[in-house]
Amino acid sequence: MEEENLPRHIGFIMDGNGRWAKKRAMPRNFGHKQGAAVFKKTVNWCRELGVRAATFYAFSTENWKRPADEVKGIMNLLRKYIKDIRAMAKEDVRFIFIGDLTKLDEDIQVELTDIMETTKQNTGFITGVALNYGGRAEIANAARLLAEKCVSGELEPGDITEEAFERELYTSKFPPLDLVIRPSGEQRLSNFLIWQAAYAEFVFMDVLWPDFKKKDLESAIEEYAHRSRRFGGV
Ligand code: IPE
Ligand code: IPE
Ligand code: MG
Repeated sequence: MEEENLPRHIGFIMDGNGRWAKKRAMPRNFGHKQGAAVFKKTVNWCRELGVRAATFYAFSTENWKRPADEVKGIMNLLRKYIKDIRAMAKEDVRFIFIGDLTKLDEDIQVELTDIMETTKQNTGFITGVALNYGGRAEIANAARLLAEKCVSGELEPGDITEEAFERELYTSKFPPLDLVIRPSGEQRLSNFLIWQAAYAEFVFMDVLWPDFKKKDLESAIEEYAHRSRRFGGV
């Protein structure tokens, strides 16, 4: 595929783990475990296909509403995955964790901060993982940071342009978000990258995330390549 037809940055809403487990009469956390394995494979597929960055929605600001044992299970899975993430980082992958990480357990925060720091120079691929992430919270956070800069005199209110705003978002180091893929049959953003998706293309798929395969990624990219992106022009 021509490079210009390839999305530079894909957002994945990894949804359907619970239903996948339920279909097998297994606990929801079994679905999350399977989903995490698919995350790892998807990073490699994206890279093989020539995509430059991918962000995975792993835990939203709203997901704290779930039963405590499910939340705990997801956090423990993350702890286990930190090892895999470190191995992936050795392959020139830069990791950026987006969201309010300060609400995560201290040991997880320490690891995630360290991974971000030690992979800063990697340029082969950018993997974003959204944890305690909410698009509205991200926008409110950017507004707060800009307000602080105005108070300190670093900025004037008139300097607050779209570009200045984007520099305060968690995704300032990512290429533009071209495509959002949501499996599981739901057709909504659920507070994922709402600023960044303003002109992204959307592909909703019926497959549940733990069943997501390379052919599904290829078919989403194929569909993207045939979309006519006008950005308000003609
Ligand atoms: C997505 O799968 C994973 C997280 C939100 C952590 P779900 O757990 O939402 O799966 P369904 O939607 O209930 O099937
Ligand atoms: C979105 O899925 C969040 C993640 C995939 C992490 P949800 O399952 O939480 O979204 P809703 O509740 O269907 O909107
Ligand atoms: Mg869901």
